[in-house]
Amino acid sequence: MFKRTLVTTALPYANGPVHIGHLAGVYVPADIYVRYLRLKGRDVLFVGGSDEHGVPVTIRARKEGITTQEVVDRYHELIKSSFERFGISFDVYSRTTSAIHHKFASDYFRKLYDNGKFIEQTTEQFYDPETGHFLTDRNIRGECPHCHAAGAYGDQCEKCGSTLSPEELINPYNAETGNPLVKKPTSHWYLPLDQYQQWLEKWILEDHKEWRPNVYGQCKSWLDGGLRPRAVTRDLDWGIPVPVEGAEGKVLYVWFDAPIGYISNTKEICDAQPEKWGKWETWWKDQDTRLIHFIGKDNIVFHCIVFPAMLKADGSYILPDNVPSNEFLNLEGDKISTSRNWAVWLNEYLDDFPGKQDVLRYVLTANAPETKDNDFTWADFQARNNNELVAIYGNFVNRALVLTKKYFEGKVPKTSDFTDYDRATIDEFKNVKAQLESLLEDFKFREAQKEAMNLARIGNKYLADTEPWKLAKTDMERTATILNLSLQIAANLSIAFEPFLPFSSDKLRQMIAPLSTASPLSNSPFKWENLGRIDLLPEGQSLGEVSLLFEKIEDDAIQAQLDRLARIKAENEAAAKEAELANWKPAAIKADTSIDEFDKMDIRVATVLDCQPVKKSERLLQFTLDDGMGGRTILSGIAQSYPDPSVLIGKQVLFIANFPPRKMMGIESQGMILSAVDADGKLVVTTVSREVKNGAQVG
Ligand code: 2FM
Ligand code: ZN
Repeated sequence: MFKRTLVTTALPYANGPVHIGHLAGVYVPADIYVRYLRLKGRDVLFVGGSDEHGVPVTIRARKEGITTQEVVDRYHELIKSSFERFGISFDVYSRTTSAIHHKFASDYFRKLYDNGKFIEQTTEQFYDPETGHFLTDRNIRGECPHCHAAGAYGDQCEKCGSTLSPEELINPYNAETGNPLVKKPTSHWYLPLDQYQQWLEKWILEDHKEWRPNVYGQCKSWLDGGLRPRAVTRDLDWGIPVPVEGAEGKVLYVWFDAPIGYISNTKEICDAQPEKWGKWETWWKDQDTRLIHFIGKDNIVFHCIVFPAMLKADGSYILPDNVPSNEFLNLEGDKISTSRNWAVWLNEYLDDFPGKQDVLRYVLTANAPETKDNDFTWADFQARNNNELVAIYGNFVNRALVLTKKYFEGKVPKTSDFTDYDRATIDEFKNVKAQLESLLEDFKFREAQKEAMNLARIGNKYLADTEPWKLAKTDMERTATILNLSLQIAANLSIAFEPFLPFSSDKLRQMIAPLSTASPLSNSPFKWENLGRIDLLPEGQSLGEVSLLFEKIEDDAIQAQLDRLARIKAENEAAAKEAELANWKPAAIKADTSIDEFDKMDIRVATVLDCQPVKKSERLLQFTLDDGMGGRTILSGIAQSYPDPSVLIGKQVLFIANFPPRKMMGIESQGMILSAVDADGKLVVTTVSREVKNGAQVG
């Protein structure tokens, strides 16, 4: 049994606000877990912070036209305050640009360097001769070798989703300047992961079979593929300078320094409040500490393979005992994306839905992508609030409290004998503590929250079945027992939901026991150990002010969010179109043909006498032509490009006269009208530059 638990959450890049994907994947589950441990009175330290190095923040700086420092200052503050407002209860939330972190990460590198834990290698990297900079994968763009989209990144094509390396790009260029790139040798330090392969195989594949299947599976596939040395330095001017002579212009790779941020942030809080937290080494070097990393699935390799190898290379640290990692959350069926602004941003949510932190916490947990990617929709958000939080949990609590106010002057009434039905109800929730514990210890937060909600359902059903509002006319003693038990269930709910919905649990405690809440909660009647008891509220205790625990969310609030997303979608589509047009290049020339082949085509001129959409066809226009030879009809699939086909009437167009006639939609088409395909895919009918005789040949 461990003596203490250290919980870390992936450090978000300070290149934008955090969104619901971050929350569902990492911060909400971690916060649930930490609150649960605290409620049990366990020794726990919850560490977070912003990841302020790396290319993502420098890209944002260029995009916003401000310095990188300004970017990280802006977003660190925004992220930190949003987490606070949302109730993510970090004990420390610091940043990787802090002086403590810079020194700690630098010393960490230096120790491994001095102990010969790195190898130095020179490789050819992409270099922009004009700016004199080596470029990282994300800063290199070019044509995708798979789908041939222009502007694919050096690590990924956003069009077809392929993972790429910069070497694979066709005509790579500097994303910022557009300059073409050359290869130039540069030397870097590498952590020889291959040397840790056997040790990692045993540690993960044999000793940690209990890790979630997605985590274990990803580790196994990395290990099966064979580990290779991994560079831990980069040629960049933003980051922690490599503390080695002759390494000017080189910084620690962001994935080397960021996880060290967990340690340096621990040091920061321990140094600041040693009486409360003790020494940082106790949290990181004592085998009695259980280390848990909460992360998203894109971070698995770094937390399960690279960081443990770094810790092992040092040799004095503990290793993570578990790395609960979630899959991804999508938004309204589409991948969440910071660059496409396709997200629900936490700061905006908090502004748009004041006081409704718990609604989002509830929905994100109910829909948590624990085993597969999941989708967030505003319709589901509204339904879960209105049909579950309001209609079940809130309704039960409100009825119990209001009836107690009405019949018992707002004091917890006295119980008399329990009926069989009362006992059956008590039996139903007797096991809730054990069930919740087993699910929470197993990081199954979604199921755990369902269990807590089940308790509310039990309470709601109990009141509906016993109908104390009717009994109050004839049997006050029985009414008192029912309401006492209902209030005890409400008290249990405040405990069961505390890890999940802390704001509502607090509000509920204020309503049922305004004077008996203590801090920490683990010293109060509302501690975890008391979950399942029916004597939490003493007879005669006065209730506090009663208000609604949850409020209905109306359609207009949801519509406003949907309208915002629709606007963003339209903007993104317009931007994508614009980029496509800007990147358009003529198609490659077809294989050689000959004059004989060309001569077989009988291309002629005709005047359009009439042009109409073909009924029931979205694609076809029907041309009536004066071809100088008695006239003909031709159908052409260009209706989408000509919303008003009458503009073509009177024009002289080119057509192929010797295609055999063909029936479409019951009409015979006698040839083909020639059109050019523009960059946006629109078809433009070719016309002649001055009037010629209808029937004239083109050649
Ligand atoms: O993927 C990310 O957003 C990274 N900033 C996570 C870093 S986690 C840790 F190593 F700091
Ligand atoms: Zn592609």
